[in-house]
Amino acid sequence: MSFQQINVENYLVNAVTLFRDTWGLLTAGTSEKCNMMTVSWGMLGELWGEDCVMVFVRPQRYTKEFLDANERFSLSFLPKGTQSKRVHGVCGVQSGRDIDKIAAAGLTPVPLEDTTCFAEAETVLLCRKLAAQDFEPSGFISDIPHAMYPEKDFHTLYVGKIEQILVQA
Ligand SMILES: Cc1cc2nc3c(=O)[nH]c(=O)nc-3n(C[C@H](O)[C@H](O)[C@H](O)COP(=O)(O)O)c2cc1C
Repeated sequence: MSFQQINVENYLVNAVTLFRDTWGLLTAGTSEKCNMMTVSWGMLGELWGEDCVMVFVRPQRYTKEFLDANERFSLSFLPKGTQSKRVHGVCGVQSGRDIDKIAAAGLTPVPLEDTTCFAEAETVLLCRKLAAQDFEPSGFISDIPHAMYPEKDFHTLYVGKIEQILVQA
């Protein structure tokens, strides 16, 4: 299988259910040394005149070290099914600090610019970081800190400019 690039105008996707239901494999680092994790919280849209994606990463994630150390990251979206369940059963639960997640999940890394995506994906977003912003407890105007952050492990918000959208050819 190989990827072909499409324009954002031809990327017909439900921005809410893409993250909520399909889940993405957020990856940073080269194919020699990268890490990936499942994300189901994310957004697609327009910011600062750019087509952007936003993802939210808690400080304890090993993937965060790779996100912070690299200019780009990718989001690989696998087709729903058994393989996706297996991949996310590893990548959303296990840490790359403890195991080789690529081997455990049966993933095939594909180098993409200075980052990595996976051959098993049906769609890949290649993103260049524009901003990384930690949520501040004082910024909330709701009960979210109490409900979502009992451990005070506030997410970092990463804004990535979408540089390429790849689909299976
Ligand atoms: C369905 C699902 C969605 C998740 N979404 C997120 C998310 O949006 N942000 C986050 O920080 N962690 C999320 N996680 C948790 C990480 O994927 C998980 O902790 C992972 O093992 C981290 O791996 P790492 O330590 O190798 O980075 C999610 C887990 C699952 C199962």
